[in-house]
Amino acid sequence: MASRIQTLTPLFIRNKNFCKNRQTIWTLRNSLCQVMKKTVPTLKCNMFPHCFLSNKARYGQYTKTFPVLDGSIPSVCEHVFEENLRNSEACIQRYSELLCKVSKGGGENAILRHTQRNKKLLVRERLRMLLDDETFLELSPFAGFDLPYGDVPAAGCLTGIGKICGVWCVFMANDATVKGGTIYPISVKKQLRAQQIAVQNRLLSVYLVDSGGAFLPLQAELFPDQSHGGRIFYNEAIMSAMKIPQVAVVCGSCTAGGAYVPTMADETVIVDKIGSMFLAGPPLVKAATGEDISPEDLGGASMHSKVSGCVDHFASSEKEAYECVRNIILTLNYELPPEETLEYDDPLYSAEELLGLAPRGYSYTLHIKLILSRLIDGSRFQEFKAEYGTTLVTGFAHMEGHLVGIVANNGELTHDASLKGSHFVQLCSQRSIPILFLQNTAPHAPEPTSLSQAEDHTNRLKAQASMMAAVACAAVPKITLVIGGCYGNESYAMCGRSFDPNFLFLWPNARVALVDSRHISTFPQARDDDCTGDDSDLKHLKEKLEEESSAFHSSARLWDDGIIRPQNSRKVIAQCLTIMKQQKYQIASLQHYPIIRL
Ligand code: COA
Repeated sequence: MASRIQTLTPLFIRNKNFCKNRQTIWTLRNSLCQVMKKTVPTLKCNMFPHCFLSNKARYGQYTKTFPVLDGSIPSVCEHVFEENLRNSEACIQRYSELLCKVSKGGGENAILRHTQRNKKLLVRERLRMLLDDETFLELSPFAGFDLPYGDVPAAGCLTGIGKICGVWCVFMANDATVKGGTIYPISVKKQLRAQQIAVQNRLLSVYLVDSGGAFLPLQAELFPDQSHGGRIFYNEAIMSAMKIPQVAVVCGSCTAGGAYVPTMADETVIVDKIGSMFLAGPPLVKAATGEDISPEDLGGASMHSKVSGCVDHFASSEKEAYECVRNIILTLNYELPPEETLEYDDPLYSAEELLGLAPRGYSYTLHIKLILSRLIDGSRFQEFKAEYGTTLVTGFAHMEGHLVGIVANNGELTHDASLKGSHFVQLCSQRSIPILFLQNTAPHAPEPTSLSQAEDHTNRLKAQASMMAAVACAAVPKITLVIGGCYGNESYAMCGRSFDPNFLFLWPNARVALVDSRHISTFPQARDDDCTGDDSDLKHLKEKLEEESSAFHSSARLWDDGIIRPQNSRKVIAQCLTIMKQQKYQIASLQHYPIIRL
């Protein structure tokens, strides 16, 4: 409060007609404290009456002047809408079936073993106890589905972002019903991505560790390389040095790699009877020394909290452990974001209609403003360069009250469209406004048929390169939502995965590939003996491309942060915008060394 008042003081001084001396300022300051109560955030502005405006009032007063988009669907587009709708319904059915399958973890037997024999809570029950509410954002639930080495439900590890004591936190929780919580290559990738999200958005991390360590049959894909298992521990140290707190709960057997995660965390809680940690468990001790030892004596809660010091808090039950985590979070000395309930209008058009606007293929794409009008507050859009480079739509809007810059494909990323994109992205960066990319890129670049077309292509290349540079260097949070195609090079300029958006989600109809299988009519002539380039090769290639292009294939490999239903997009994006804002309220100073367990 004091700092807010300090930022106001110079404004009073500047307003000489209103306050003539220091005494007046102090009187004002005190009365302001009364008027503003505790939590109303203030605006810095030079006109005195506006000093009192909260974000809420600002929104109400000014932003309802953005022009309203016409989102009515032209009757000539009805057949396209119907086709898209049928496709979306089929995709969503697959989505729902998969979600149901994934939610069962390792299956009935494993669940019984976990709950009855091992007396542990299921991973979702744990999260329910730990988090403030169930409105958490789960990341990549389809990771691990149908991989060459089999199905690994949710990659054996739930990750996401939820609130604990009012603070947004990234959680990483092993699901021990999936092969004892062992780590597959995809589990490593999922945890590394969760850590990257924690770093990029400066979110504290909570690890619920219940893991048998490396899944041994795949050890060669897990252990030696830079982005393999060890990177998780390396990141823990680096994150701690960056002042990103990490708390762990040992709520199962943590063997080998599984034991380093809690040991490297800033603070660790262990649950009596069910939590244990060792580099090698009792069977290995027996094999090596012939000695029989119980898990409890070798690395149980009492041993680690009283003797080894590998953990810091002893909890007699899981419930107590999660209460302890909540108490630890209360000691982080975070200033919580003010409880601002932003006032906003819903879009004027139904989100359900997004299903008919989600293109089943590039040629089924309708005007992007039809989608925008169903995502943004009041369907109001302050368009930038409306008449220039119209195959890219850029402008400002609000999502549940959060100001956001929008960059949306509306055709090919031409020379003009790319220049416009670069300009707009720089504007957002200069004004510290997060950017939302709505991606639906063209499946292939047309072959040039004349010299002038070739020249046009070169110019387009140059402009796209500028946009890529602008996007890569824009120092603002970015969210990418693939609403149709994520094809080829244009997807880079639209902040594809390699351009590090803070979050990247797909609609279930999305297709992710270098080229669209449906646009290939000849087999690329290769010179090696295996490729004869005949019809059967072409058919095979098209089938392979088709299979590999689906949103589910992408999400299984963690090329994104999850598939979301089109109708939920607004909610998810608004939630991400809130999460990304939290870093404004953290302790600012950096430290350059981690917390080391001594
Ligand atoms: N690699 C591959 N598979 C493993 C595994 C590992 N490290 N650890 C466990 N599994 C498999 C088991 O074979 C079993 O498979 P199944 O369901 O097909 O039969 C499944 O995971 C569950 O194991 P189980 O021992 O039946 O369950 P549990 O809950 O009683 O115990 C562990 C789980 C993880 C505590 C226990 O399996 C264990 O100690 N594993 C060895 C851990 C180890 O030594 N890791 C070293 C890694 S470098």
